[in-house]
Amino acid sequence: MRQLKHKRDTWGSRLGIIMAVAGSAVGLGNFLRFPTQAASNGGGAFMIPYFISLLLLGIPLMWIEWTLGRYGGGFEHGTAPGIFHSLWQKNRFIKYFGVIGIFGPFVIFIYYTFIESWTLGYSFYSLKGLYAQATDQASMQAFLKGYQGLEKNSFFSSIVPAYIFFLIAFSLNILVLYRGIKGGIERVAKIAMPVLLGFGILLMIRVLTLGSPDPAKPDWNIVNGLGFLWNPDFSALKSAKVWLAAAGQIFFTLSVGIGVILTYASYLSKGDDVVLSGLTAVSVNEFAEIVLGGSIIIPAAFVFFGPGLIQAIATQGAFDLGFVTMPLILGKIPLSALFGFMWFGLLFLAGVTSSISLAYPAVAFLEDEFDISRKKAVAIFAAVSFALCQPAIFLLGKGVVNELDFWGGTFCLVLFGTVEAVLFAWVFGMDRAWAEIHHGADLAVPRIYKFIIKFVTPLFLILILGFWLYQEGIPTIFLKGVSEADKPYIFWTRIGLLFLFACLAVMVKIAWRRKTGKWEKELI
Ligand code: ALA
Repeated sequence: MRQLKHKRDTWGSRLGIIMAVAGSAVGLGNFLRFPTQAASNGGGAFMIPYFISLLLLGIPLMWIEWTLGRYGGGFEHGTAPGIFHSLWQKNRFIKYFGVIGIFGPFVIFIYYTFIESWTLGYSFYSLKGLYAQATDQASMQAFLKGYQGLEKNSFFSSIVPAYIFFLIAFSLNILVLYRGIKGGIERVAKIAMPVLLGFGILLMIRVLTLGSPDPAKPDWNIVNGLGFLWNPDFSALKSAKVWLAAAGQIFFTLSVGIGVILTYASYLSKGDDVVLSGLTAVSVNEFAEIVLGGSIIIPAAFVFFGPGLIQAIATQGAFDLGFVTMPLILGKIPLSALFGFMWFGLLFLAGVTSSISLAYPAVAFLEDEFDISRKKAVAIFAAVSFALCQPAIFLLGKGVVNELDFWGGTFCLVLFGTVEAVLFAWVFGMDRAWAEIHHGADLAVPRIYKFIIKFVTPLFLILILGFWLYQEGIPTIFLKGVSEADKPYIFWTRIGLLFLFACLAVMVKIAWRRKTGKWEKELI
């Protein structure tokens, strides 16, 4: 087996990797994306396809990624090109499929970090009482647009403040990456996760104890607010869109199909458990999503805006919900600066523990496949990603972020998850896969999962990929609904993404040639 000059990092403790994977999973998706998805896709009924997707896709993929990551780490590969290659050495092309596992998280990182930096900015503004001057939906909307640099108004005359917060958030990410797995990511996750969960629990208690703000409207209360989100509308289950939304949410929220769990798990040792650890990380994420994410924003909006407006609010999109509705609500309760700080602080911690995980596959790829030091790899990553973040920041209003999210945050996830599941169950082989999952396991996986992983998960994924391409993928690829003014921006974003993918593929080719001394002879 090959030997790297640089010793690969390791996790300091089991709690450390569980917190890091949970940190990657718990993100803006839990607190903003989940409640909007549930509210607009059948309320309580959404939880049926959600739980089915969790059991048939989310948990199996989580185990697959933990297992594959640990397996690849044994060959000193921390990213999908090397891991896929180790699984299927005879196939010359499979490593290029693995490029998706670096490209996808990198693309998400490009826009995610900017959004994460808004939460940092808003935490600061809550303490300073700045957005408290905006007291209705329209002015809070103006505050957000001014901050994002989409318009000049009485709140902001330029994008400079947002850019400064972006520089701070970006630098923090790079600093954590620079300190590596144990000294950076693990340390941050072990502090950020308990603080984040603590803030979430306090905010949930505050929301659940809210009284009706207007005695004349007693039905504007928290029980009805919870009912609005959770009362099931079973007719929604007839729509394929609802099933797709549930599966998409499972992918996004658990960070599976992205490539990041492969990388984190590659720093485990051969005898480390993956079954119980993977399940624990899923459980932390589901607590944060269903219990905390489902109890804060929508029920609180119901209490303050009532049944008449809640439907429009709940379906207005995750950003408006988080950055317009929530600050308005928090502005109306006592200790609003403190609760505002907690809300945006929680989102920032959730964001940062996710973005560092999105960055790490690219860093690990440089380290493992080019045998360079982590510090050098982080410096290269910082320079390239900083340049690529600029279009996401300055062309936010031109549809660039949506486009990046479509390719990085949706298309690549489902495609990568499908390839991974098929490789694991069919190429690696289910008997070997089952034995590999159970290496050092502290818990036996129920036998039914042997059948699920082999047949159900790949089939479910192929169906989802097909339906999704038909319903959303093809129309988006052909720019349906995109304004004429935005089309050139979308076109150039796609060219840029193709170029990035091609560069990564060429890097894979060069890395393999360097290691073997020959093109395509890869028995490493
Ligand atoms: N899993 C991360 C989130 O939910 C990406 O935001």
